[in-house]
Amino acid sequence: MSNPSILILPGDGIGPEVMAQVTRIIDWYGNKRDLAFDVSTDLVGGAAYDAHGVPLHDDTMARAMQVDAVLLGAVGGPKYDDLDFSVKPERGLLRLRKEMDLFSNLRPAQCFDALADFSSLKKDIVAGLDIMIVRELTSGVYFGEPRGIFNEGNERVGINTQRYTESEIERVARSAFELAMARGKKLCSMEKANVMESGVLWREVVTRVHADYPEVELSHMYADNGAMQLVRAPKQFDVIVTDNLFGDILSDCAAMLTGSLGMLPSASLGAPMDNGRPRAMYEPVHGSAPDITGQSKANPIACILSFAMALRYSFDQGAEADRLEAAIETVLADGLRTADLLGEDGVTPVSTSGMGDAILAALD
Ligand code: NAI
Ligand code: MG
Repeated sequence: MSNPSILILPGDGIGPEVMAQVTRIIDWYGNKRDLAFDVSTDLVGGAAYDAHGVPLHDDTMARAMQVDAVLLGAVGGPKYDDLDFSVKPERGLLRLRKEMDLFSNLRPAQCFDALADFSSLKKDIVAGLDIMIVRELTSGVYFGEPRGIFNEGNERVGINTQRYTESEIERVARSAFELAMARGKKLCSMEKANVMESGVLWREVVTRVHADYPEVELSHMYADNGAMQLVRAPKQFDVIVTDNLFGDILSDCAAMLTGSLGMLPSASLGAPMDNGRPRAMYEPVHGSAPDITGQSKANPIACILSFAMALRYSFDQGAEADRLEAAIETVLADGLRTADLLGEDGVTPVSTSGMGDAILAALD
């Protein structure tokens, strides 16, 4: 059998810097754990625009459809800010998400003990936190028709439409129940069924899908209350599933419970491929960080944790994902910090590759 395949798209800014550390870790798995991957690399975002005049070449798109998983760094930067909307770096990312039909966006919010002081909340509220927000990514108000700015009488009206079909709700609900089964068997679904018909349908369909996962404890919450509860007592949750708009807001809110942008991974999953695993793309939540590009300051952990998610969700290597996360935990407990994780206690920061060195040493 051939090795599992990964397409790496480092992108722009710090993307290639953090991805270089991931590549070292992928090599470590091949050498030390007999877990080799067929890795290929290609361009996305500004880097692709510079080479081809488009933020994602058709050949790259075709390759993304053929591999077991895509790992993406980050796209964009000031150099591309004035480009026409149709060729902006972000369009490369959007095309990947759309053509791969990645409807289920997983955003973990996990608090490493060593970083609990970093949260804006009290330490005991976030210490040990490990929750997962599942955001529907390909429908809802960001895509619904009609949309636009129209003339109405003697003024203009801005319109967006929250629209969900039953099958769109069902597939993301299923993905969330599957995750809950593999985790703490607790799922909370968030909508605004009190004021939105799309929320009523959402609640109905999630409840129906629940019948296939009777072991999972399902609860429903209005999304505004959900926002309050996330800040008040986040550890009450295990998996949360919600729509595109609420998920955008709630996942950013949950992310900040745990500290730096440099620590946050994500996965975007689609329908199962021939190998039974979902079509998938993994990427850090952060952008290309032009303010620190080229200074060896970038924290590679968000990107490395994204690879850990790939091990878990695309390659059936949950134990190896645990191993990698434990190595990161060890390094943080030892006090290693990239510049973004520094408080005021005068610790000297390590470089991007210094953090990579330490994680590899901890893996050994
Ligand atoms: P950003 O995430 O790139 O940076 C925000 C702040 O966090 C900066 O001060 C940056 O230095 C810091 N930061 C981010 N990642 C870090 C890391 N790994 N280690 C240490 N510090 C880190 O967001 P910003 O500045 O709003 O956007 C910069 C560019 O990135 C823009 O062109 C934007 O369009 C693009 N972007 C791309 C995304 C993607 O590729 N998924 C997501 C967000 C923004
Ligand atoms: Mg957002």
